[in-house]
Amino acid sequence: MTDLRTELGEAVGAAFAAEGVDASLARVTASDRPDLADFQSNGALAAAKALKANPRELAAKIAARLEGDPRLASVEIAGPGFINLKVADAALAARAAEVAADADHSGAALVAAPRKVVIDYAGPNVAKPMHVGHLRSSIIGESLKRLYRFRGDQVWGDAHFGDWGFQMGLLITAVGDEGQADAFMVEGDGPFPAESPVALEDLERLYPAAAAKAKEDAAFRDRARKATAELQGGRPGYRALWKHMHDVSMKALQREFTALGVTFDLWNGESDADPLIPGMVEELKAKGLLVEDAGAQVVHVARPGETRKKKLADGSVIEAPSPPPLLVISSEGSAMYGTTDLATIKQRRRDQDFDLVLYVVDERQAEHFEQVFRGAYLAGYAAEGQLDHLGFGTMNGPDGKPFKTRAGGVLKLHDLISQATDKARERLHEAKLGEALPEAEFEDIARKVAVAALKFADLSNARTTSYIFDLDRFMSFEGKTGPYLLYQAVRIKSLLRKAADQGADFAPVVIAEPAERDLALTLDAFSQAVAEAYDKKMPHVVAEHAYRLAQSFSKFYAACPVLIAPDEATKGSRLALSKAALDQLETALRLLGIDTPERM
Ligand code: ARG
Repeated sequence: MTDLRTELGEAVGAAFAAEGVDASLARVTASDRPDLADFQSNGALAAAKALKANPRELAAKIAARLEGDPRLASVEIAGPGFINLKVADAALAARAAEVAADADHSGAALVAAPRKVVIDYAGPNVAKPMHVGHLRSSIIGESLKRLYRFRGDQVWGDAHFGDWGFQMGLLITAVGDEGQADAFMVEGDGPFPAESPVALEDLERLYPAAAAKAKEDAAFRDRARKATAELQGGRPGYRALWKHMHDVSMKALQREFTALGVTFDLWNGESDADPLIPGMVEELKAKGLLVEDAGAQVVHVARPGETRKKKLADGSVIEAPSPPPLLVISSEGSAMYGTTDLATIKQRRRDQDFDLVLYVVDERQAEHFEQVFRGAYLAGYAAEGQLDHLGFGTMNGPDGKPFKTRAGGVLKLHDLISQATDKARERLHEAKLGEALPEAEFEDIARKVAVAALKFADLSNARTTSYIFDLDRFMSFEGKTGPYLLYQAVRIKSLLRKAADQGADFAPVVIAEPAERDLALTLDAFSQAVAEAYDKKMPHVVAEHAYRLAQSFSKFYAACPVLIAPDEATKGSRLALSKAALDQLETALRLLGIDTPERM
């Protein structure tokens, strides 16, 4: 199934070719002047330049070749040689009917060659509280997962649980010092208690204290480092305690992510890549990539000449390799963050045999990924271009600094969702929405409104920009917000319910009024929006489309009465258009990870 813009692009391309000009210049875009035309092609200008011809004359010749195309109502030349295209009502009606009949994809085209794609997002850590970087990663990653799957790729969403680094050594040391877990501290083989000696609250309390202590207390830090190395080395008691902490933490996180409508196909952790590390180290050595550097083992990833100035402790400045070497084994013998990431690529090669891995991680980790990707390309674990770090900006508080919760502490997903849900309830009451509904349904609506507000606020910004967390604005039922879009979707649902109660039937789509034209053109544009969001890995293009569609429907509904349409054929056509708009709006919202309630 092809959208009109693509189809017309092909027709204009053929006309270019027939005139002996490069068809690739024919690009058709949405018109800058919707009052004059639906689409335009500016290609004749560039083509005329190349041929040293008069652009208006060339445009006229191309236009003449398009005359008589039944899909076009008019072809006109404007300005120095723009070709303006107006689509015939019948062609728009046919396309709208096609979109309406396409229940699964609402007119969006699939990829020609599906790929195997792993998307690494969220990346929460055992015990370490989540921050806004994790929240944004979860929201953006979830949307990309849905978008890629929607277009036909085989996709695995992986939480890449942070369960293996220094924080685990810190926790083991802190839990041990409290004396709660003596049974796990013995050096032998066990058996070890099947009950966890710690609950989530213990981890949340112990981790920040231990992290702070490690900064001041060198002896404590060294013990935690040693514990990290011993854990990784396989000390049985530490492994058993680790497993309890891992499970307690994961269970809680899964619950919170589910509440946010974020799910994963894999809950692999950094620890799952650990068994691959010894073999990987041997391989890197055999390939001559792993070298000794001040007691540590590193891979040099900078190419000759790639350097930057670096200030040494003694104040002197040297030209150091940039990016710096990838640290594989620390001088204490521990695997590092980059080590597990490199081994995880090997693991994904083995388990998913990916074509592409997307890492949805805070922009601040850009250098880390540059190091890891270069290491993987050098080692042959991935082909150049198969690994892509999708960085993003921060969600800031009103002070312009990364958002913190009311108490000033780091973000707890659970608190954020409940704060947003409180606000949603308040707003629903103010707007007199949902109050007559049963309590359980009202609660479900409030939760959906809250999640829609948070996700849409995030995803309506380009991924790479930072934005300000402003719950009042996110939660408004007016403007470019999640609640506004949900409200519009619910309004169409209620219209369709009323029509069904009256026994009204759908009828073939007929396009006559300007508002009907605009709605049909908007429905047509979805396919291009989805493709662009996919190619650029930018969900905000879908968010933009959802907003445009809701507005287009709103104007249509104001200008074109549906239930009291002048005749049955018009009513049936308008109902079909309304249904197509609803399906596409819900599909677009679903791609953003947003669910729509039945009523409000
Ligand atoms: N756990 C990491 C953090 O909190 C994020 C993980 C990102 N993914 C990755 N493959 N490194 O910073």
